Amino acid sequence: MNYRESSRKSYNLLQDWVFLLDYKQEERFSQNTHTRVEMKLLAAIAVVLLLVVAESMAARGTSRRTKRELMSPLHMGGIRDPFGSYCERRGGCCPGRDDQCTVPYLDTICYCDLFCNRTISDCCPDFWGHCLGISPPFIGTCERNSHKFLSGQTYKENCNLCTCGTTGRWECEQHACLIENDMIQAVNRGNYGWRAANYSQFFGMSLDEGLRYRLGTQRPSRTIMSMNEMQLNMDPQNDRLPQYFNAAEKWPGKIHEPLDQGNCAASWAFSTAAVASDRISIQSMGHMTPQLSPQNLISCDTRNQGGCAGGRIDGAWWYMRRIGVVTEECYPFSAPQQTPAEVGRCMMQSRSVGRGKRQATARCPSTHTYHNDIYQSTPPYRLSSNEKEIMKEIMDNGPVQAILEVHEDFFVYKSGIYKHTDVSFTKPPHYRKHNTHSVRITGWGEERNYDGTTKKFWIAANSWGKNWGENGYFRIARGENECEIEAFVIGAWGRVTMEDMQSHHHRRLK
Ligand SMILES: *[C@@H]1O[C@H](CO)[C@@H](O)[C@H](O)[C@H]1NC(C)=O
Ligand SMILES: *[C@@H]1O[C@H](CO)[C@@H](O)[C@H](O)[C@H]1NC(C)=O
Repeated sequence: MNYRESSRKSYNLLQDWVFLLDYKQEERFSQNTHTRVEMKLLAAIAVVLLLVVAESMAARGTSRRTKRELMSPLHMGGIRDPFGSYCERRGGCCPGRDDQCTVPYLDTICYCDLFCNRTISDCCPDFWGHCLGISPPFIGTCERNSHKFLSGQTYKENCNLCTCGTTGRWECEQHACLIENDMIQAVNRGNYGWRAANYSQFFGMSLDEGLRYRLGTQRPSRTIMSMNEMQLNMDPQNDRLPQYFNAAEKWPGKIHEPLDQGNCAASWAFSTAAVASDRISIQSMGHMTPQLSPQNLISCDTRNQGGCAGGRIDGAWWYMRRIGVVTEECYPFSAPQQTPAEVGRCMMQSRSVGRGKRQATARCPSTHTYHNDIYQSTPPYRLSSNEKEIMKEIMDNGPVQAILEVHEDFFVYKSGIYKHTDVSFTKPPHYRKHNTHSVRITGWGEERNYDGTTKKFWIAANSWGKNWGENGYFRIARGENECEIEAFVIGAWGRVTMEDMQSHHHRRLK
């Protein structure tokens, strides 16, 4: 008889006992609870005795151990979710060894068979209480703010869960958080040219979550990246660019305020809709000033796009050109609540009405407006990475779209001229990460340093709400491709006809 068989046999035997006892107790339960407790105790002692026998046999026959037996104990750091219902919810415990007797537990499984209670334990948290009627063996106490906590109890420290371990010490996860206090302090103490702040909407998120849910532009593919750049043929004599330019001042009322993408990784839709909105307003000379709907793109431009799980700006412009979108007022943004990647059903359609124009065939999802006009753009064009050419384009035609490589310190930007800093360089590598985002550049300027040199910057709109940065905007170093802001810059015209100008004009006058 090998170890597995013998131990199984002893477990079965013992299990029969326990169940038999339980069964008998059940009958007498109402009359004599004392007996029940005593019986339980007896049973527990029997289990211990038999365990000793089984363990000694295990020592002799270590061959052919299963994956389960080699598994590390689940409760090394104390029992997580100690008051959760597992074996109870499963509908009971299993006699002897039953490798199928499992319940999902955190990101793994736990067992409700008697075999689980070995030195290396893989029992569910309520196994001891529910199956054996005893208290769990892993009990320690931890202190926090002069309160006592039992092993297994938890609290959240910023983005990390801390659990009271069996040894009476708090054991915390070690994720890098989106808001790290020492990073904010290091930026503000250093001479980096910008200031950092704490944002409550980011607090408690990990850096990985921030990069996953707050950005959402796929790096343009190599074919897209090699798209021809527009030749602007600048004339150095006549094209004198001012030191400072802000589209919002040249075109008052036509440059739209930054929106808030929430935990929806769809900057691909937000930056495209924002640039298209400004361009249409400028081109129509203010006859139309639509704030275009990112949600329309998120929910309806689904071919090769990931909605709130990220997407491509070339795909967004294709949709803007071929199908078109309605306004934000008509199709409002709804930030995802449960699963951040949800897209939502597409609630807007359009059909061709000739000459490339389209008309909505559905009512606005919002009941507050009937204006479901479809707005379209012309094909996008790529600008060169030359600072001067980008500036000329913004000054002549309006804001442009740019990709931006977002690093860990960008989330805490509050004011000044952003440059990626080295404040996280002394920390482990998982504190230094980046991912691609897209934004709208609306202007530029320069600041004089104390030493007489100048610091040139872009003015750009983000999509993290107006309480982030400088009223939703940020300034970033210009002329040095900081975080790739000059690497891939896109412009597009709105599709605006004389007819549009008149009809929209009339409606405004009505
Ligand atoms: C369960 O395991 C614990 C820890 O190894 C041990 O102290 C306890 O006696 C075991 N209980 C039973 C009923 O086997
Ligand atoms: C940041 O804000 C959060 C919530 O608003 C707060 O709990 C936390 O203590 C703040 N952190 C710092 C470093 O000020």
